[in-house]
Amino acid sequence: MNTTGATKIAMRGAGYYSSNTVGAKAVIDKVGDLVVEAIGRMPAIADAQPFSIADFGAADGGTSIDLMRRMVEAIRAREPDRQITITYTDLPHNDFAALFRLTQGLLGQRADKPLADIPGLFIFGSGTSFYRQIVPDGSLSFGFSATAMHWISARPCMIKDHVQAVGAAPAECEQFRAQGLADWDTILLRRARELRRGGKLLLANFCVDEAGRYLGATVGVNMFDEFARRWRGLLAAGRINEAEYVNATFQQFYKTPDEFAAPFRDANSPVSKAGLRLGHLSTIVTPCPYAADHLNHRDAAAFAKAYVPTLRSWSETVFAGALDPARPADMRAAILDDFYGAYEADVAQAPDGHRMDYVHCLMEITKVS
Ligand SMILES: C[S@@+](CC[C@H](N)C(=O)[O-])C[C@H]1O[C@@H](n2cnc3c(N)ncnc32)[C@H](O)[C@@H]1O
Repeated sequence: MNTTGATKIAMRGAGYYSSNTVGAKAVIDKVGDLVVEAIGRMPAIADAQPFSIADFGAADGGTSIDLMRRMVEAIRAREPDRQITITYTDLPHNDFAALFRLTQGLLGQRADKPLADIPGLFIFGSGTSFYRQIVPDGSLSFGFSATAMHWISARPCMIKDHVQAVGAAPAECEQFRAQGLADWDTILLRRARELRRGGKLLLANFCVDEAGRYLGATVGVNMFDEFARRWRGLLAAGRINEAEYVNATFQQFYKTPDEFAAPFRDANSPVSKAGLRLGHLSTIVTPCPYAADHLNHRDAAAFAKAYVPTLRSWSETVFAGALDPARPADMRAAILDDFYGAYEADVAQAPDGHRMDYVHCLMEITKVS
């Protein structure tokens, strides 16, 4: 069975990601006030140095571009001449060409002037995983990340009869939890090296909140159960085989707020010893914008046509990767089209209850030593 390392995690490219993930942008826009306020509390940095920002797991950069503008404004409000760098990071096969085109004003219909035209702002990209150190020791002023760190570094096992750890058997779930907690330490320790003293991280991570809610499982239909049920249906219909069924396992784990906070609550943990301190911690639910629109227009077909592509934008590579590569490419494409097509038809038929509310844990972390 195919496990761990070789999985390809990717959003669909060519700007498809940010144009189909209105909800992800809404989350980032909400976090903007916290970011600006945190920048306002930061100590001044030495004269000759830039204020360096990183966006970890930025995809095509479209969802955070307005936040980046706000950050630049907040920094310049205090220090009009401060040079600023933004390092966009993601995995190596991310569509960095779309990201560069977007930030240079060559993609999309944006009326704003391109980010790259702001004087004294320097834009970089790094195709390096956030499980590794990405920028030099002590050089990072402010690290931001949204909706990315639930992707764990490896799948500890395949989930036999579901697609995500939230529906896994207890023994499988424990393996994912152990991986998720170890990975969280790694992420924090890498960032601890990168941050300058007084530097900050503002992270918006998917979580299981205090009420047990998580992405697509707040009220109504459980989205991951829907995926699992439909994938199982393809097995029952003989469209996919047993290995393909089991291989559809999301390389993800959603931690609780307590799990996020645990390394900070232990003064002797490697994370605390590395000088990181947790300030703000809260959870937020961001309502599914497609379900909200549907309440207004009540056009079920239009809702399904808008809603299912946003699910497809981030989930397709998992199902595509589960299919036997020996199948002809057009057969694999047809299976995926049927999978999402049937989902869309069902939503159009009975739209109520389908919604992908986002559930995030927000954290502000400071490097104090
Ligand atoms: C759902 S998108 C979020 C994009 C953007 N931050 C947002 O909030 O809209 C998750 C991104 O995380 C990236 N990602 C997953 N694992 C990663 C890793 N180990 N290192 C860097 N990026 C990673 C994915 O490639 C993807 O672009």
